[in-house]
Amino acid sequence: MHIDVFTLFPEHFEWFRSQRHVRGALAAGSELRLINYRDTTPLSGGQVDDAPYGGGAGMVMRVDVVDAALTAAYGGERSAMRVVALTPGGRLFDEALASELAVEQRLALLCGRYEGFDERVVEHLCTDAISIGRYVLSGGELAAMVVCDAVLRKLPGALGDETSAIEESFSEALSGAPEYPHYTRPASYRGWQVPEVLLSGDHERVRQWRLARSRERLGEKQG
Ligand code: ADE
Repeated sequence: MHIDVFTLFPEHFEWFRSQRHVRGALAAGSELRLINYRDTTPLSGGQVDDAPYGGGAGMVMRVDVVDAALTAAYGGERSAMRVVALTPGGRLFDEALASELAVEQRLALLCGRYEGFDERVVEHLCTDAISIGRYVLSGGELAAMVVCDAVLRKLPGALGDETSAIEESFSEALSGAPEYPHYTRPASYRGWQVPEVLLSGDHERVRQWRLARSRERLGEKQG
């Protein structure tokens, strides 16, 4: 998979790129390219934003600036790929959406800053608008990292143990339910015991127990 992140702050991704699972995915053939809107802005002085029509605080990312960055990166090839605006009002990001994105060959993630994007970016230049939660961050960079993390860890090479992403929380193997609880040594700590079934060595009982706990958690979540 090839992911392009459009941002005014490519350096924010240095830490993210250095993480083991990200390096693993990149070593296995995925790509993560950072593209700075300022490098292709058609405006003088590296300008990328402007005051909102109708007044109000803050600045808005200009549609011509975002269009120029996309055109420089893809020319006319854009129609076949998903171009995602990261914005607080978008479709809520969850495991199903991460799986949906993970099958794409290419993905463009657009980070806004300041008051976000001119709405025409979302309407005319993007295929998707994604929110990582109903709160406003000071930019889309953290949201892009969240999306990249959840998507990349589904790809070969990201996780040491290839099976661990499959049975994970919210995955299809658990019918979309949250993951079951995990325990490790010691089996007893300050009187807090690991459930006996996990020490039994009976794989079928362990499987049934995990499924039941996972469904229980789904019930709790849905109230
Ligand atoms: N940009 C600012 N806030 C955001 C959020 N909650 N999700 C995605 N992108 C954002």
